[in-house]
Amino acid sequence: MSPGRRLAGRVSLDRALSKLGCASRSLARAWVRAGRVSVAGRVVRDPDLEVVPGRARLAVDGRPVAAGPPMVVALHKPRGTLTTRRDPAARRTVYDLLDPSLPWLFPVGRLDRDTSGLLLFTNDTRLGEALTAPGSGVVKVYRARVRGRPGPEALARLREGIPLDGVLARALSVEVVRPGARATRLELVLDQGLNRQVRRMCAAVGHKVLDLRRTRIGPLALEGLESGAWRVLSGAEVASLTPHRPTAILPP
Ligand code: URA
Repeated sequence: MSPGRRLAGRVSLDRALSKLGCASRSLARAWVRAGRVSVAGRVVRDPDLEVVPGRARLAVDGRPVAAGPPMVVALHKPRGTLTTRRDPAARRTVYDLLDPSLPWLFPVGRLDRDTSGLLLFTNDTRLGEALTAPGSGVVKVYRARVRGRPGPEALARLREGIPLDGVLARALSVEVVRPGARATRLELVLDQGLNRQVRRMCAAVGHKVLDLRRTRIGPLALEGLESGAWRVLSGAEVASLTPHRPTAILPP
């Protein structure tokens, strides 16, 4: 049917998914073709199928896609869980910890399997992109226990930058929280999100990361959330995450 003859409110399935904030149209088309999308409980593989967004019962990977205000969930990711939806080796993933009644949500960035701490999920792709885009101004705070005791030179290099993946990976600030001859606890504030950034930066200055936890994203702290627990953020908390607002822990 040509767009001119469409019934009122109907749009193609890929468009509906993008209107609902799930994904770009091209990504939504790929999901549909891969059999990950269902309409009223039946898997559909035609991205041009017409539906009424907000009325059709859409699901991605079996999770309902909700129309309505964006939802953001904060999870305290335990060490040893994968930030992926499905693992071919059936290892524990972060989705095993989220309630099945939650709508379809995707992780805002990733944490390595061996990293614990604050991980956000949302159903709003624009919000997710805004939080992870380079230059978003959203800072992340990590507590890293590293082998040995990094000296002033190593700490300065972490602040000045280390070339990784063609960019200068740098910490906005690095503080020694607890020094020790065998292991030292550092707090690093980053506004970048390169793959395994903290681990690679510390390794580059000769101090292997033994334990890593993300304690804060922008103004949102991990505190109060037990390992493995999650909660839905309030509207005010979601608004406080938006990048144009000043955060509570802007670098000095
Ligand atoms: N940096 C890392 O090295 N790993 C993470 O999981 C997050 C930041």
